Amino acid sequence: MPEDKAPQQRRGSASLRSASREAAQERRSAPQRRPLVAANWKMHKTIAEADQFLERFIGSIGELEAVDVVICPPYTALAATIERTRRSPVLIAAQNVHESDSGAFTGEISIPMLSELGVAGAIIGHSERRQHFAESDQALARKLAALLAADLLPILCVGETEAQRDGGETESVLITQLDADLAEVPGAKLGQVVIAYEPIWAIGTGRTATPEQAQEASALIRARVAERDREAAAAIRVVYGGSVKPENAAELFDRPDIDGGLVGGASLDPEDFVAICRAA
Ligand code: PGA
Repeated sequence: MPEDKAPQQRRGSASLRSASREAAQERRSAPQRRPLVAANWKMHKTIAEADQFLERFIGSIGELEAVDVVICPPYTALAATIERTRRSPVLIAAQNVHESDSGAFTGEISIPMLSELGVAGAIIGHSERRQHFAESDQALARKLAALLAADLLPILCVGETEAQRDGGETESVLITQLDADLAEVPGAKLGQVVIAYEPIWAIGTGRTATPEQAQEASALIRARVAERDREAAAAIRVVYGGSVKPENAAELFDRPDIDGGLVGGASLDPEDFVAICRAA
């Protein structure tokens, strides 16, 4: 941990709770945040399958003017899905990105390459990338700053493992991730970041966090941002991810600090994903 962050991280949960209370007070007077629901397709769907999905999804989504709907297909389907959604409100984003514009990084994709296609943003720091591809918080900080510099939407994922939750470490894990990942974001752009709270034990397991657990973590994330910039904290969208389904979406999205969702499994089915978007 960098030395200058240490005192901030040592600040106890009492100060975070009071920051959380203050953030709640400000929330009442803050402008409404626009909900966002994002589909994380992971390594699913060929171009043909994506096309079939969009045919049904766009056909039944109707008017959803008050929600940002983002679909994150694999790289190979980005161009086709952008073309297919051109006359719809659906935004297409990537699932990852490299922070350098170009270079000797075999297998990676850069921001100029995504921008050229018309990609709207990228998920970064998904727990599967942190776990299986050893993505570090330092790399994520650079990715986040690079996306914002290119005016793309970053969806930053943070979250604790089951063992960390059971060990009472949820708060410290989230704070460590947030402080490191947001370190290079300029203050003026902080409010544009979307943060997905994704408890790892709830991803792909069918075990959703309770609305109380998800709200508590989302409030904590907002309070941590507020310690740096109150206006950004009021503007920033915090979404929940981890076994979101049509049956549980509404009660999760109803919570004051949860501004939508990042949906894996249930986003592969157009009817389920439409139902989740409507819940927001
Ligand atoms: P899930 O995945 O909805 O299948 O749990 C969420 C995610 O990994 O973003």
